[in-house]
Amino acid sequence: MELATYFREKQILVENSMKEIFSSLKTSPSALRDAMEYMLFSNGKRIRPILALAVCEAQEKNCDNLLPFVCAIEMIHTYSLIHDDLPCMDNDDLRRGKPTCHKVYGEALALLAGDGLLTDAFRVMADARYTERINPKIAKQIIFEVATAAGAEGMVAGQVMDVLYDGKEGTKNILNYIHSRKTTALIRASVRVGAIMGGAKARALKKFTQYGECIGFAFQIMDDLLDVEGDEEMVGKKLNKDISKQTYVKHYGVTASKIKLEQLTDEAIRSIQFLGDNSGILTQIAQFISNRAS
Ligand code: IPE
Ligand code: IPE
Ligand code: MG
Ligand code: MG
Ligand code: MG
Repeated sequence: MELATYFREKQILVENSMKEIFSSLKTSPSALRDAMEYMLFSNGKRIRPILALAVCEAQEKNCDNLLPFVCAIEMIHTYSLIHDDLPCMDNDDLRRGKPTCHKVYGEALALLAGDGLLTDAFRVMADARYTERINPKIAKQIIFEVATAAGAEGMVAGQVMDVLYDGKEGTKNILNYIHSRKTTALIRASVRVGAIMGGAKARALKKFTQYGECIGFAFQIMDDLLDVEGDEEMVGKKLNKDISKQTYVKHYGVTASKIKLEQLTDEAIRSIQFLGDNSGILTQIAQFISNRAS
């Protein structure tokens, strides 16, 4: 199947499922609900949920019961974006071409909308309505996986170092530390969640993990390249600010970053060769990540 068609199908699936789940949460007051919805339903690529579903499907497993869990991952991703844009972090005015959450709802509500999304993501993953449809051992494993990736050992640690080393010289090791946590951790976890749900045994899980690691890393290199080379209107005021960050482009330059991107993509594709004919979509996703325009 063509990737664009696959993406569209899955985006609709995830979008509908997120709407259903979110409306069942009965979030109040309405100002909080609005702030959470504002960022949750604003044209995200949904790459993490799609990855998890694609990995599960590549193992010829039905992924319907995985949907609430991938929506929870997207809720966590959304919280991370809201907080990432706050004045105390990256201080960005625009996200996905629209004013950032705090620009519309104010800092306090944006902070709390993030808190709500993060906490409710775990509520969704622990909700008996969804967990009873899958093996309890697998449910526990998935929740642990996501918590580890999002928490103080993973994404939060990466974000902390990203902030602490803003404007500092930094080293390649620091850069590696930041990239492997702030972005790669949740992408790798999404891949692993799909693998676990699809029944992957140790050897396959290792290969999938390698795939997730490579595309996660590639994803952040591409994100940094887009900040440098993206269209001026999209980049806007971000450009100058991002120069002070620890990025692959800053430490290695544009050409070496592009070469690294290709190497990571090749390695990702190689690591899922064991899937044979079922590797098609995952191969295309790896290629998409290093060619995307936004
Ligand atoms: C952006 O993530 C932030 C990073 C982790 C680099 P995405 O590019 O997946 O953001 P959306 O959800 O599609 O807007
Ligand atoms: C975002 O990294 C990482 C997380 C939100 C965890 P960036 O700060 O580089 O992402 P953008 O460029 O704002 O999307
Ligand atoms: Mg940031
Ligand atoms: Mg940012
Ligand atoms: Mg960025």
